[in-house]
Amino acid sequence: MSVPIPQPPSVPFLGNVFSIDKELPLGSFSLLAKQYGEIYQLNIIGRSVVFVNSAELVREVSNDKKFQKNVPGALAEVRRAAGDGLFTAYADEPNWAIAHRLLMPAFGTANIRNMFDDMKDICSQLVLKWSRFGPDYVISPTEDFTRLTLDTIALCAMNYRFNSFYSETLPPFCEAMTDFLKECNARANRPAIVQSLMTGATAKFEADCKHMVDVASEIVKHRRLHPIEKKDLLNAMLYGKDPKTGQGLGDDAITKNLITFLIAGHETTSGMLSFTTYHLLKNPEKLIRLRKEVDDVTQGNPITLEHLSKLPYLNAVLREALRLNSTAALRSVTALEDCVLAGKYSIKKGQGIAINNHEAHHDPKVWGEDADEFKPERMLDGKFEAMPPESWQPFGFGMRACIGRPFAWQEALLVMATIVQTFDLSFHDPSYNLEVKQALTLKPKDFYIHASLRSNAA
Ligand code: HEM
Repeated sequence: MSVPIPQPPSVPFLGNVFSIDKELPLGSFSLLAKQYGEIYQLNIIGRSVVFVNSAELVREVSNDKKFQKNVPGALAEVRRAAGDGLFTAYADEPNWAIAHRLLMPAFGTANIRNMFDDMKDICSQLVLKWSRFGPDYVISPTEDFTRLTLDTIALCAMNYRFNSFYSETLPPFCEAMTDFLKECNARANRPAIVQSLMTGATAKFEADCKHMVDVASEIVKHRRLHPIEKKDLLNAMLYGKDPKTGQGLGDDAITKNLITFLIAGHETTSGMLSFTTYHLLKNPEKLIRLRKEVDDVTQGNPITLEHLSKLPYLNAVLREALRLNSTAALRSVTALEDCVLAGKYSIKKGQGIAINNHEAHHDPKVWGEDADEFKPERMLDGKFEAMPPESWQPFGFGMRACIGRPFAWQEALLVMATIVQTFDLSFHDPSYNLEVKQALTLKPKDFYIHASLRSNAA
């Protein structure tokens, strides 16, 4: 027998929009999950969305044969800049399949290994900054990791240098992107009538969007005029052909994918590095274990690509940080046919479903009663590999899962190993407890640290 999907009380036209905190929508979605349980339904200004929150339901909708990626709300707004680029393409847009097939080898582990020297170049700029500014300097890890990840993806993907570590403020591109993404979230929760009155915000949104498109298309034009021999993502798109159709990507599609890589490739990784740093500081015994592993492997020598394959505890630390705080914790799918979830909730074909991975990653049925604790040990010694693949999905799932995962992973291994090898870290405010802020992705809020060169280096 079918059971109705619960829905909080709503108001005419606007639906449940007042149930959603504008600053931290995920916080509201998780609070509602505590109240309504494994599934509930919201009406967001006329758009009906079913939220699934338990690991079991998330597993059920993680099935490419029955559900496909949906691009609603804020993500649909991101299309203004990223169009049919890989991240924001609708399921039936031909450029997605072409770009996906053409770029898969370029994002493969072997090619990402070739990017190690460029990653190290940018990582050494962060080390230099933290060393030179000294132990009294108050570091915003989220800002410096944003500099690092933006500069890294730009250098590795398109041989472009933002040089973010050489200025007090973040580069104009980064400011434009941050404001653009924030506004994408806001627009998704504004009624059309309110939106039409906000001419100032719209003008700023359009200007930010134009700035991003101008920078990306200038990079494409420059490379066409001045070709280089480098196995980067830009060359893969400029000269690569889809193995199935023989088609290449036009300059417009390439520009949109460059913007996609800059957006998708830096915010998420910067958040992961920030949350990892927070959890290590809160759990000093885990930090000691991690440092011992890094010291044993590197023997105090500069970190090499070979070292990165010998750090199981660091892998476990990153997996656990991403479980507790997935930086892209929500994803959306639509049902391809009428179906019934958990044998009792009826879902109509075309119904939008939001997958709340933050809740699923904290589900005690899968992760135990200590699911809220930071315990990298649960990801070690084959335990991670033994889990069903749908249980841990900070990189999404199936056909539309993250193409940049090997890139992000190598970068994070290098950066975290380098930091624990080089610095003693401490909280600026020892009583700080994690708070989270949300743009398109999630990051720690008001999190500040100090870094001093290690007193007991190996
Ligand atoms: C897709 C997370 C790093 C590029 C995704 C998705 C998630 C995700 C959850 C699926 C979104 C959905 O289903 O709607 C992350 C996390 C990262 C990370 C947590 C770092 C810790 C990167 C990097 C790049 C990248 C470094 C690029 C260099 C993409 C692209 C897609 C994607 C292009 C769309 C793939 C497709 O639909 O074909 N990512 N990502 N990501 N990511 Fe990542």
